[in-house]
Amino acid sequence: MKISKKIIIAIDGHSSCGKSTLAKDLAKKLEYTFVDSGAMYRAVTLHAIRNNFIQNGRVDEEKLEKAISEIEIQFESINGIQHIFLNNKDITDEIRLPNVSNNVSIVAKLKHVRKKLVQQQRKMGCYGGIIMDGRDIGTVVFPNAELKLFVTASTEVRTERRFKELRANGIEITREEVKNNLIERDHIDSTREISPLMQAKDAIILDNSELTRLQQLELAIDLVNKRTKDFN
Ligand code: CDP
Repeated sequence: MKISKKIIIAIDGHSSCGKSTLAKDLAKKLEYTFVDSGAMYRAVTLHAIRNNFIQNGRVDEEKLEKAISEIEIQFESINGIQHIFLNNKDITDEIRLPNVSNNVSIVAKLKHVRKKLVQQQRKMGCYGGIIMDGRDIGTVVFPNAELKLFVTASTEVRTERRFKELRANGIEITREEVKNNLIERDHIDSTREISPLMQAKDAIILDNSELTRLQQLELAIDLVNKRTKDFN
């Protein structure tokens, strides 16, 4: 496989639909940089939780806005696995805890949070060769991305995958709790005022409900090959 020009690939979709898995697999295969934009929103949420800016499901917007300049987010690959750092501390595992998942969508809808993170995300993509997954990558962050995928899967399949993933990491949670969180986040993410989750007009839908990890990767590689032919 020969792909010379390094393009921008935007992958959006619902909660736990396998976007990050696909993005990581593709990045490895193409030798591109992978950026999990959701991890950045999770990092800001963790900072807000630690500083008691979130109480009873409400964010103290003013306090978070004042503190936003103190938040430094970095990615680093360690033994081939991408880690995320918040103010130089590794928070890779902590951002996956239910407490963060339960609050991230109310933080991600705030204007000043999105402004800061979108700015940082655009900088990361300025040289191409990047695969970023999230909710607004094809619509807002990189509206000119050469390839846009909108990944989807049934709620049942998504619940089962996330449930197994959390359990494998030793997190005590029920299927019901996982399902409710996915539904709740999808609702908040799709109905928010700023940058709601939606399929970009020029995005290609990839429903992976019935696909294995390898099958979805092969499908995506075909799409990348078709797209890059136009640019080389
Ligand atoms: O891995 P999963 O699909 O469950 O979620 P994630 O990608 O880690 O994203 C966590 C949350 O961050 C989402 O539910 C959104 O509220 C928010 N997010 C966003 O608003 N915009 C993005 N580009 C990425 C994530």
